[in-house]
Amino acid sequence: MLLLLYVLMLSLLSGGSAKVVRDLESECGQFFVNGKSPTRFPEPQYRQICQTRNNVVYYATFYDTDNRIPVYTVYIFEVIIFPVNCSRSSWFLTDSLLQLDDNASPNMQFKEDVKIQGVGKSQALNEDYMKSGYDRGHLAPVYQANSQSCADATFTLTNAAPPNPTFNQQPWRKLEGNIAKELSEQCLPKRYTAYIVTGVVPGASKINGRVNVSSHFWTAFCCLDNNNKCQISKAFIGENKNIPPKEKTVKDLETELANLYKVESFELFMKCCNHLSTKMLPIIRI
Ligand SMILES: *[C@@H]1O[C@H](CO)[C@@H](O)[C@H](O)[C@H]1NC(C)=O
Ligand SMILES: *[C@@H]1O[C@H](CO)[C@@H](O)[C@H](O)[C@H]1NC(C)=O
Repeated sequence: MLLLLYVLMLSLLSGGSAKVVRDLESECGQFFVNGKSPTRFPEPQYRQICQTRNNVVYYATFYDTDNRIPVYTVYIFEVIIFPVNCSRSSWFLTDSLLQLDDNASPNMQFKEDVKIQGVGKSQALNEDYMKSGYDRGHLAPVYQANSQSCADATFTLTNAAPPNPTFNQQPWRKLEGNIAKELSEQCLPKRYTAYIVTGVVPGASKINGRVNVSSHFWTAFCCLDNNNKCQISKAFIGENKNIPPKEKTVKDLETELANLYKVESFELFMKCCNHLSTKMLPIIRI
């Protein structure tokens, strides 16, 4: 009886699923340039998530369960007329991680106010962010979504990291808007595919003793024509403070990320798009 109630409760809460997979490239490779994901670290704390809602995969996340923040989220930008004016959803947990930790059944999501024992071992909870002084910052941003269901799918806590609120609401939001505008004007009308990867670097403090506060937020895009040739690319990285992110080439961002993550190399688009210099590209103002 209890089990039945539990199952019933879960099915009522269910809005879709978020799937932890063994290999992002084979399970949701459609979000990656030539099917190759950005660098994935080998340590056991990382999880690969195909972010799914109502059986549609909207984006992919490489998640750090020790720090309870993503490393990055990868998606394809498809908004021809920007902005799309989707309304904001409430934040929820992706139980894909619980699935591993707590033997909960797969394919469901919990609304933010549901408390279930054991939840939160591997991922951040809303209560971690409450009164922390930090926002829940989207990596795949709500307002680059091309539909309401896509916008809703960005409100998972596995797609969030804690930005300084001023940074989040001012320079970073402006940058997201500028990128969306540029992609919808420069790439989509030419039928290029616009790949975006957005990530964070863990920093020196934690909120609620659990969620690592990112030192940097970064993002890069790459527009491929239908011969898979890179036509436009740009990259940006900003410290988690109220100063505008800096523009870089994809290659320079890769070098900087390799230093910040303390790894030998870090690849965003598997060398595709990293030969371009920003000098050749149209300038957008932040
Ligand atoms: C969204 O709203 C803005 C401002 O009201 C408008 O300019 C834009 O065309 C709308 N976008 C769509 C796709 O309806
Ligand atoms: C945040 O994560 C980084 C990388 O894992 C780690 O070096 C750092 O100590 C963490 N910060 C805190 C406050 O635990």
